[in-house]
Amino acid sequence: MEIKKIGIIGAGTMGHGIAMVAAKSGHEVIMRDIEQNYVDNGLQKIDKFLSKSVAREKMTEEEKKQALALIKGTTKVEDLKDCEIIIEAVVENIELKKKVFKELDEICGPDVIFASNTSTIPITEMAAATSRPDKFIGMHFFNPVPIMKLIEVIRGLGTSDETAESVVALAKQVGKIPIEAHDYPGFISNRILMPMINEAVFCLMEGVASKEDIDGVMKLGMNHPMGPLELADLIGLDTCLYIMEVLYGGFADSKYRPCPLLKKMVNAGYLGRKTGRGFFEYTR
Ligand code: CAA
Repeated sequence: MEIKKIGIIGAGTMGHGIAMVAAKSGHEVIMRDIEQNYVDNGLQKIDKFLSKSVAREKMTEEEKKQALALIKGTTKVEDLKDCEIIIEAVVENIELKKKVFKELDEICGPDVIFASNTSTIPITEMAAATSRPDKFIGMHFFNPVPIMKLIEVIRGLGTSDETAESVVALAKQVGKIPIEAHDYPGFISNRILMPMINEAVFCLMEGVASKEDIDGVMKLGMNHPMGPLELADLIGLDTCLYIMEVLYGGFADSKYRPCPLLKKMVNAGYLGRKTGRGFFEYTR
């Protein structure tokens, strides 16, 4: 099935990023959040990013206008009922996500595909909260969405081949490279990335080196574009902790135990860039 109209639930960092790449590739997009100011904030950020793209000569003013004209914001979930796929990008809370999908399940026709942008919540479990596990899939985008090339496509236990094929085709149409994974905790990306970040926090806690030097080793020695502590600040320390807890619980293996310093930072409210302070400090 060719997908032309895309619904996005959530206008936050991931939601508005997904809306933008979808519109840039000519798809009609309806982006929904619970309050108008969240919707407006997402739309403003899209406008700002596209204006920078024009300034960087990555797109023309006309292309920017065309992309913006394809995106509509709303607070009403019913406005998404005519979409061919709905991509959910709300906060990482399984109960909230199940609630969102149950509501959508009642509103949308049986052919509509449901995709979750979760970084770690089991796809199979969310799919089971709907009447369409065959039409349910993980579509994991990476931050910053307009720049990162990957979409990790995760099949739940019941996901049909047809759904996976449609979503793989859509990922290519929006200019990304899809890589498929099966539904195990952390999929591929966070099963590998998060233990690395967690280990960097252990290094800091144990005084192996300063935060600058821990990041410096990974940047200069491994050619990572960002050090793990700076990357944790970009992702959000609360998200990092949550993912470690999912890995720890999901595998029941102590090698995934979250670092106590990571927990302490989250308890202090030092969540990274979004709060202005994580391992590093940021001026807003
Ligand atoms: N429009 C178009 N292109 C833009 C742009 C804009 N407004 N802003 C930036 N770009 C382009 C730049 O032109 C550049 O492209 P070229 O190399 O083709 O010129 C590219 O984006 C990089 O931009 P910058 O040079 O300004 O930025 P940078 O070199 O400092 O890189 C970064 C920034 C891309 C974030 C880089 O540091 C990076 O890749 N960091 C790692 C990010 C990462 O690992 N993300 C994944 C996090 S995990 C996750 O999201 C999922 C999860 O489950 C937790």
